Order: sequence, then C-alpha cells, then structure tokens
Amino acid sequence: MFITLEGVDGAGKSSHLNWLETWFTSRGRQVRMTREPGGTAIGEQLREMVLHQPMHAETEALIMFAARREHIEQVIRPALAAGEVVISDRFTDASFAYQSGGRGLPEARLAVLEDWVHADLQPDLTFLFDLAPEIAAQRLSSARAPDRFEREQTDFHARVRAAYLRRAEQFSARIRIIDGSRSIDQVRLQLSTVLDAAMETKV
Ligand SMILES: Nc1ncnc2c1ncn2[C@@H]1O[C@H](COP(=O)(O)OP(=O)(O)OP(=O)(O)O)[C@@H](O)[C@H]1O
Ligand SMILES: [Mg+2]
Repeated sequence: MFITLEGVDGAGKSSHLNWLETWFTSRGRQVRMTREPGGTAIGEQLREMVLHQPMHAETEALIMFAARREHIEQVIRPALAAGEVVISDRFTDASFAYQSGGRGLPEARLAVLEDWVHADLQPDLTFLFDLAPEIAAQRLSSARAPDRFEREQTDFHARVRAAYLRRAEQFSARIRIIDGSRSIDQVRLQLSTVLDAAMETKV
C-alpha cells in the first residue's frame, strides 16, 4: 500500500508521521516512511538545492521529478514489492499544486513528466491536509526558518491550496481531504476513520 501526505506548507503533515507509522506497525505491517523531495542520497541533495537556491520554475519542476525518479527506483518500488506500507510526505500531487498552481506552469507539462517518471504507479491513498494558508503560516512562523516555498506570499499558498482541492475533486476516490484546522487529536480521528475504511477494502 502506497500512502502520500499532501497540503500547503505548515498544514500539519509531518506532525502525524510517527502516529501513522504506529497505526500500521501495531497492525503487524512493515512501514517505510519517506519524503519528497528527497528520500534518497541524491534526492536529499536535490532537495537542498530546490528548497534554497533561486531557479526557473521549469528547473524546479524537473528537479522534483528527477529526485522522484530516483526515489521510486531506490525506495518506493522495492518497499512495495517487499509488501511494506510506503508512506511518503509529499509526492506528485505536490508538483501539480506548487509548480502548476503556485508557479503557473501548464498542468500538461507536469503530466508529461508524471507519465515519463511513473506512468504505472499512483498512490493508493492520499491524505490532503487542508488549511487556510494564513493559519498554516502562523503555525510555521514559530516552528522553523522558512525555505524558498515557505517565504512565498499568501496568494502563492492560496493558489497551491486551490490546486490541491481541484485535484481532490478530480481524483476523489484516492485523495481524502483532512480538515487541518482542527486539533491534533481531531485530525488523528479523521485519519483513523479513513484508514479503517481503506484497510477493510485493501487487506
Ligand atoms: N492540528 C494542529 N493544530 C495546531 N498546530 C498544529 C497542528 N498540526 C500541526 N501543528 C503545528 O504546526 C506546525 C507545522 O506542522 P507540520 O510541520 O506538521 O506541517 P507540515 O505540513 O509538515 O509543513 P511542511 O510542509 O512545511 O513540512 C508545527 O509547529 C506543528 O506542531
Ligand atoms: Mg513537513
């Protein structure tokens, strides 16, 4: 099973990684936690570049998919083949949300890259942590120093959020919207409701 976590910066994705891992391990499943951009040695180097160095929006998109190509080859496919549950903090929905919604690249460009890099692989389940960018930015401001994406203005994040919500409509069977404005406990309750239902049909 391949699960991805998505949402604007500060929506609360990473806050639930350990909880999600435990949810599966306590049910006897092996879990592989990973993230994008990154997840491999090359991917983490590309992450450093793309999060901190100014570049053309298309360069940014290409780097995201280059890192993803390596991630799929080295981590995602082998783990899935071994029967593990793979949980990735971001995946291709983020490219559509940030590089198309946020930066304005045509979706068709990203669809070409998606088709090139993983035509035959999609997450089984995606949690979209949805939250007003203003609140997300407030949460982040006390948490850590901002990267290139987190330094963008609110309208950038509003476009990212809108693009995510459009994808959730387009892929409604896969993408489940989680109300990220609620407390951590209430977010977990939403996650477990979706997971309980998903496991009934998958395993
Ligand atoms: N439901 C919540 N209520 C209040 N604060 C929260 C909630 N979820 C997360 N936070 C806090 O908000 C901040 C951002 O959360 P987190 O790092 O999980 O977001 P993220 O989606 O992983 O962000 P990024 O995309 O930048 O990695 C953290 O300080 C976290 O403690
Ligand atoms: Mg995070």
